[in-house]
Amino acid sequence: MTDAVLKDYQQFDVRNYLNEYFLTTDGVNDRCSRFLARCVQEQDLSNAQVLDFACGPIISSILHIATVCKEIDMCDFVPANLEEIRTWTAGDTDAFNWDSFVIKALQDEKALAGIPDADITAEEIAQRNTLVRQKIGQLLHCDGKQKYPLGIDFKKRYDVLIMSFCLENIAESVDEFENIFTNTLELLKPNGLLIWFVLAQRKDYKVGELTYHSLVVSPTIVEQQLTRDNRYQKLEFIVEHIGEDGSLSDSVLVLCSARKLTTPKH
Ligand SMILES: C[S@@+](CC[C@H](N)C(=O)[O-])C[C@H]1O[C@@H](n2cnc3c(N)ncnc32)[C@H](O)[C@@H]1O
Repeated sequence: MTDAVLKDYQQFDVRNYLNEYFLTTDGVNDRCSRFLARCVQEQDLSNAQVLDFACGPIISSILHIATVCKEIDMCDFVPANLEEIRTWTAGDTDAFNWDSFVIKALQDEKALAGIPDADITAEEIAQRNTLVRQKIGQLLHCDGKQKYPLGIDFKKRYDVLIMSFCLENIAESVDEFENIFTNTLELLKPNGLLIWFVLAQRKDYKVGELTYHSLVVSPTIVEQQLTRDNRYQKLEFIVEHIGEDGSLSDSVLVLCSARKLTTPKH
């Protein structure tokens, strides 16, 4: 057991991360799923080109949007994370099993359609898994600290940018948090949709025996990124205190969606 707080992701253990945070659909995962289901229901995302930025090894963030969009590119700094996505997309038998998240996603969608507590069939699960696999496009290396995190060719390429629990872990200072946010802004087309989740007020997080750095940011700092220079029109901005969730007990969950403004408001 080491007490050092890690900032570089060379030793990031994909399976430990999945086992730490994705064995149950409760808590933070439940809130994210419901938020994503609502975004997909409320916004016209048909035919959208989507990027899941710093996706890690997870596909739970794209289970809803896959039903409407054209294609989803996934990018991360750590090759092992992309390899885990590739393994799942290929249907390898040793890939992580996301079925409990698929069931939850389908139940959330049915609840929004007025059918609460729906029973989900094995066929529905299989169909959603197949659809998500079909929608996954390129698996790309990215570095949020670069002005162009995916290279200049990807400037303004995407209609939807999903950023889930990443900027606060990548950035080592508030200045860097702001810079990385500015870098990611350039990936979106004008009028594109940002879906952004942040665990605020947290100084670290566990992955197995290791402890990773998290920048302590307030919901206000998160909100300022959207409103600064009128870059985004806020659609939803939800702040929830997470209680009784084990290692997340001191955290504040921020769930937000926003439209990139084509011309700054004055
Ligand atoms: C806490 S994980 C979040 C993963 C996933 N989005 C989720 O919701 O579970 C933080 C992610 O940031 C990635 N990361 C670390 N440094 C990065 C960088 N410089 N640029 C882009 N991603 C980075 C890590 O590889 C890791 O997948």
